[in-house]
Amino acid sequence: MIRKELLAVVASEVTVCTKCPLWKTRRDAVPGEGSAKSKIMFFGEAPGRSEDAQGRPFVGAAGKFLDELLSEIGLSREDVFITNVVKCRPPRNRAPKSLEVQTCTPYLDRQTRIIKPKFIVTLGNYATAYIFSNAKLPFSGITQAHGKPHEVAILGLKAIVFPMFHPATVLYNPKYKTMLRQDFQSLNDELERTLHSRKS
Ligand code: URA
Ligand code: SF4
Repeated sequence: MIRKELLAVVASEVTVCTKCPLWKTRRDAVPGEGSAKSKIMFFGEAPGRSEDAQGRPFVGAAGKFLDELLSEIGLSREDVFITNVVKCRPPRNRAPKSLEVQTCTPYLDRQTRIIKPKFIVTLGNYATAYIFSNAKLPFSGITQAHGKPHEVAILGLKAIVFPMFHPATVLYNPKYKTMLRQDFQSLNDELERTLHSRKS
């Protein structure tokens, strides 16, 4: 099967998944979307209200800002693959519990193994903690880790993990917004250094 079909299989399982309690309060599960051939994956935390209503990742206020950040470095959503650590919305947007992360991340792992990205951009504490723990890297919070890429060997692939602040947490803080913009510029520099072509 080709990558796109394999991703569709994962998505169809996510859509009807009842493996953790979050299925009871979700409206739509949010498997993730983008290019199956992308060299770059973005990992968020969990769907919020708009995502739960539409079944699509990053379509609310944080998503609009993410679109802006992507376009500032010449990328669109179609060039990348965007998904979340947890695929169903936690009630009232509370943080995902560790059991939920544990139960759901096999889906994220499968998506990652299928796409085989060269870059994994982790947005915020949850996504970064998950990948750093997989890569056996010490993690003491996104404030320390953001903007510093790491080469890792995880899930049978070699990739560069690029931690960043979560767009939702910086939305109303100009100073942090600027830092996130700067991290996107560093990502762009890194992409230009590493990839001959961003699209394949
Ligand atoms: N925040 C996330 O972490 N993911 C989304 O899809 C939307 C907001
Ligand atoms: Fe299944 Fe993940 Fe949704 Fe829990 S959050 S029900 S594990 S898809």
